[in-house]
Amino acid sequence: MPQPTHILAIDQGTTSTRCILFDSAARPLAVAQREFAQHYPELGWVEHDPEDIWSDTVATMREVVATAGIDASAIAGIGITNQRETVVVWDRATGRPIHRAIVWQDRRTSELCGQLKADGAEAMVTQKTGLLIDPYFSATKLAWILDNVPGARAAAERGELACGTIDTFLLSRLTRGRVHATDPTNAGRTLLFDIMAQQWDEELLRLFRVPPAILPEVRDNACLFGECDPDILGHAIPIAGMAGDQQAALFGQGCFRPGMAKSTYGTGCFALMNIGTTPVLSSNRLLTTPAYRLAGVTTYALEGSIFVAGAAVKWLRDGLKIITRASETHDMATRVPDSHGVYMVPAFVGLGAPYWNPDVRGLICGLTLDATDAHLARAALESVAFQTKDLVDAMRADSAPGQGALRVDGGMAANDWLCQFLADILAAPVERPSTVETTALGAAFLAGLGTGLWTGLDQLEQVWSLNRRFESKMDPALRTTMIGGWRKAVERTLL
Ligand code: G3P
Repeated sequence: MPQPTHILAIDQGTTSTRCILFDSAARPLAVAQREFAQHYPELGWVEHDPEDIWSDTVATMREVVATAGIDASAIAGIGITNQRETVVVWDRATGRPIHRAIVWQDRRTSELCGQLKADGAEAMVTQKTGLLIDPYFSATKLAWILDNVPGARAAAERGELACGTIDTFLLSRLTRGRVHATDPTNAGRTLLFDIMAQQWDEELLRLFRVPPAILPEVRDNACLFGECDPDILGHAIPIAGMAGDQQAALFGQGCFRPGMAKSTYGTGCFALMNIGTTPVLSSNRLLTTPAYRLAGVTTYALEGSIFVAGAAVKWLRDGLKIITRASETHDMATRVPDSHGVYMVPAFVGLGAPYWNPDVRGLICGLTLDATDAHLARAALESVAFQTKDLVDAMRADSAPGQGALRVDGGMAANDWLCQFLADILAAPVERPSTVETTALGAAFLAGLGTGLWTGLDQLEQVWSLNRRFESKMDPALRTTMIGGWRKAVERTLL
């Protein structure tokens, strides 16, 4: 039988589940994608049905293999990448979730987080996890499930329940419940994992009231996690790579050297910079997070997380209904010479880095009678660039050794106008790769390393190629004025 040479990447995101099949040269051959339902049971709450996620995963796996017209025996390995922090708790005996997944955007534990901060717990938490106390991360969501599903906490103490981020849930399902494991990039987002010591931490588990028996084992990002149930694709395929989606995108962007940075524009925007193997804590409210762990060696990243990027465009479409397709924002933004003094601070679910305020809400300001839908669309796109600027400034203030260009990816990176505006506001080049499927590519890279299909980072670095580089062209005085306007709008949001 010929050697398998393909890699199947599962990219389980916040609004859709995708599978991409890559060939041995890491070229995408076929894509399958399904959007799934978002549940908003109360104001500020966001949930997913794990069974939707599971059935879409299986369906897209089958579809992508059928579309590519290959036999599953040609697949050397499977890589999983996922929306991070979103947490599921399930019954070990049946594999059934005991509650819907609580999504990273969910703010229901905001009060509890405020209390923990008021009690002075944040310094210890940051020292160990590189994170801040915020409802964004998994720990308080997990405790909420254990406290609100009748009998859950006692069952968890007895070892009857398992928990995990979406990677762990899918791995468990794909291996028919045989493997309960995660990787450092996902564990590192729970508030329960000491990223320096690379282990679950007893003091954190006590603080967030999480029983250790519920937690998965943490393994390297590229290793044999388990074998995929042959009933799914007709063949037992090794699952050999896993990473949270933003770290996977950093990996897929080939940011293997300290100072290299990427920014991914999906539902939110996440800028990560490789800082090498020595973790540095931010003095500017950025996160320190494991970027990848290979052969036991952890590389770290500084991360700035913005909760709303593409979601602002989605709101223009579904909420305001001033566009029918996201791509229309490009023409609308270029139809007007500027935003006419209109600023949008898209704090729909609070503000992430560097402000970290879960309770503030969005703001549109500077409206005049001649403001139009085009100005609003432009202000929404501009807000994405301004937020990225805040993150890059914080990285610079942390003295992270930036290497100049910011590599961009995700749906909004297809928007030329936005990329140019971003370069203008950052006063730095913006680079867009030929393969914009960098999240899935990162998972494929890891699975390729895990199976030995690819030999090392040097080989993977060669795969990255440039589609277009955007140079900064804006007049510095105009840049200063625009950024000043943005800062004032943020100040008003925070009032
Ligand atoms: O931290 C949340 C992030 O992983 C979600 O990413 O691409 O699903 O919006 P995305």
